[in-house]
Amino acid sequence: MKKIEAIIRPAKVGAVCEALDRLGHPGLMVTEVEGHGHQKGLEQQVRGKTYKVEYMTKACIRVIVHDADVDKTIEAICGAAVTGQVGDGKIFVYPVEDAVRIRTGERGAVAV
Ligand SMILES: Nc1ncnc2c1ncn2[C@@H]1O[C@H](COP(=O)(O)OP(=O)(O)OP(=O)(O)O)[C@@H](O)[C@H]1O
Ligand SMILES: [Mg+2]
Repeated sequence: MKKIEAIIRPAKVGAVCEALDRLGHPGLMVTEVEGHGHQKGLEQQVRGKTYKVEYMTKACIRVIVHDADVDKTIEAICGAAVTGQVGDGKIFVYPVEDAVRIRTGERGAVAV
């Protein structure tokens, strides 16, 4: 099992969740995160003044998938989240040791 963590534009959450649902991943987590990538935030001009915005608000989607589903999950997220502009986001992949469905006590891949 792998955890796929996608940091994406908040406006793309609906499209990404729909794409994951179509792939058969109804279970996921969505949180709001603040951070920055290579551009280290943003400079905004308001009435002639320059303001530095250090942290950008992004959405973080976490989905645990079977190893065989990693590549198609990444493709689906990218396809739904891309605009081609800086700040589209990033995807990180982590190993997952175990999973438990609390209601039934099922463990491992069947619990995902
Ligand atoms: N190396 C990193 N570690 C942890 N979080 C990161 C990292 N890079 C980006 N992020 C998170 O992902 C968000 C989006 O990053 P972003 O898409 O701007 O990456 P980038 O490397 O600057 O790519 P781009 O040049 O396309 O903007 C950031 O606001 C931050 O929350
Ligand atoms: Mg960036």
